[in-house]
Amino acid sequence: MKILVIGTGYVGTTTSLIFCEKGHQVTGLDLDDRKIQALTSGKLHFYEPGLEELLTKHITNRNISFTTDTETAIKENDVIFICVGTPMGKEGSADLTFVKNVAESIGRYMNRYKVVVTKSTVPVGTAEKVTNWIIKNQPTPISFDVVSNPEFLREGSALYDALYPDRIVIGTTSEKARTIMEELYKDFQCPVVQTNPKASEMIKYAANSFLAMKISYINELARLCDELGINVNDVSKGIGLDHRIGPLFLRAGMGYGGSCFPKDVNALLQTAKENGHLLSILDSVVKVNASQPLYFMQKIKQALGGDLQGKTIAVLGLSFKANTDDTRESPSLIIIEKLLDDQVTVRAHDPVVHLDNSPLSKVVQQFETVEETVSGTDAVILCTDWDDYKSLNWGELKPLMKQPYIFDGRNMLDKRKVESLGFHYIGIANH
Ligand code: UGA
Repeated sequence: MKILVIGTGYVGTTTSLIFCEKGHQVTGLDLDDRKIQALTSGKLHFYEPGLEELLTKHITNRNISFTTDTETAIKENDVIFICVGTPMGKEGSADLTFVKNVAESIGRYMNRYKVVVTKSTVPVGTAEKVTNWIIKNQPTPISFDVVSNPEFLREGSALYDALYPDRIVIGTTSEKARTIMEELYKDFQCPVVQTNPKASEMIKYAANSFLAMKISYINELARLCDELGINVNDVSKGIGLDHRIGPLFLRAGMGYGGSCFPKDVNALLQTAKENGHLLSILDSVVKVNASQPLYFMQKIKQALGGDLQGKTIAVLGLSFKANTDDTRESPSLIIIEKLLDDQVTVRAHDPVVHLDNSPLSKVVQQFETVEETVSGTDAVILCTDWDDYKSLNWGELKPLMKQPYIFDGRNMLDKRKVESLGFHYIGIANH
């Protein structure tokens, strides 16, 4: 099939490439000429393991091309995926400006029947809105269908998640569109959930919110475990082995970040509010998550004697999780902000994130190596669960530091091991 993917971020680029892998012909469209130029020359404009190799392969095989020419791209392709951003808008709701612009262009330029598929995370009722935006902009009526087909990939493992999904959700009431979608996904080995667009849109928010809830649940429980001297990792393991609960998303830490959970939980809360409901559990999920980095900061302060003014602290990890260069809503940045408020000199490190163009680069010194970063510091705070940090030689790092304190916001170190080297170790209920 010939597919057009509009938006070349994580979701759009990954979607494009997995459809190339399945033998389809893909055009990637973006209004940002720099992104299109980079992609055309085989370069990603973001960090995502494995994707660049696949990009090179499909450029070489001529299965994929990129363009900024909206009109031609819409006219030449009959299956159109909308993969543009839906950032957090007013009062937590999703901002649909980009989706609306795309729908209007589709209406304006469509020349024959099209299936328009929303992959961007959009609130319940958006398929209906997209339909209306298209109709309003059609010079003459031409038939089309709008399908909701949410994406469940994670940054850092986007390729694997998209190639081997747990399920595919197809939300449409049109038989014609359903048949086309089934043909498109026929080589994927997973259950397909067939439903209407509204339920499909809800499934996406409900899934992300449920995972966020698991994280806030274990984080709040971790605070009690801390008080009681219980290792929360053992609790996660003990409950996670129950198949009804499952082991994933029960890692206690500094709270969830990224471009999805914070935005999507808020958007679902906003949808509920607009419809006269309160999702009280999710309301608490947000509150727990907002206070988790502060809880950790409190522990850091307490351990270092209450006053951090004049101290020098190393922050390891800037991205919101490992294997991505995304710092959106990163708990690490919240910690840095609090440290700076307390007049701390912050030295930072990340394997892929560079602060060069960020305002933070004026107030935070970033170093190339962990050795340089921790030199002369009063403490190290582990903020991102990069594998690089799990295998550090703490015995060699200790003499470089002024004081041997490790604050492990991801519970990734072996407490006994670092303590045996003479470190004071504090994690999140990692006893
Ligand atoms: C999330 C979902 O997992 C994807 O299914 C979804 O498609 C995506 O949002 C999206 O809507 O686009 P992502 O934000 O890339 O994916 O990252 P996750 O791996 O889900 O992690 C989110 C946050 O939760 C990170 O800050 C991570 O460190 C944190 N987390 C995760 C924990 O604190 N504990 C855990 O046990 C798991």
